[in-house]
Amino acid sequence: MKKFRIAGLILAGIFIVLQFFQPELNRSGLGDNSILAKEKLPEPVAAMLKHSCFDCHSNQTNYPWYDRIAPASWLVAHHVKEGKKQLNFSDWGSKDVIDKITELGKIGDEVKSGNMPIPSYVMIHRDAKLSKEQTEELIAWTVKFSEELLAKEE
Ligand code: HEC
Repeated sequence: MKKFRIAGLILAGIFIVLQFFQPELNRSGLGDNSILAKEKLPEPVAAMLKHSCFDCHSNQTNYPWYDRIAPASWLVAHHVKEGKKQLNFSDWGSKDVIDKITELGKIGDEVKSGNMPIPSYVMIHRDAKLSKEQTEELIAWTVKFSEELLAKEE
């Protein structure tokens, strides 16, 4: 029994030490160049992006307490870093029309295939879950919005 107690104490000690190694937080704000600042999105679409995508694809992540605890905090930081590299909704205003339409196509594909929002993230962040109807609405919006962007160009 004593062995278990010592092992438990060591593990607890390691866990506490891990907490001193926290990644930098992604919280510089959504910004004036974001898709919400630059475009007039339908309210449900804006809400979906906010709740299901911005944590990993913008400059503003919401961190519930469980995302602040190592090692979960490292996984979150990794997702944010990789997610923003591919698509950052905070930089939307800097993209040209072709880039925007390309992004919209990818968004539709990723949501349709169920890759995004990342399933393991949705299991823990329940309010990020998109229903079937929401998924369809989001995909329909990517098509409609691409057409609008194109029409504005012509
Ligand atoms: C938990 C973090 C997380 C969330 C939430 C999330 N993504 Fe991602 N996303 C990533 C990461 C990491 C990558 C890059 C690696 C990959 O493609 O799997 C990525 C990649 C992408 C890509 C680029 C794919 C490519 O191959 O070019 C698109 C588009 C995308 N996500 C859209 C979305 C949309 C739309 C949402 C919301 C409905 C969303 N993501 C939610 C983390 C996330």
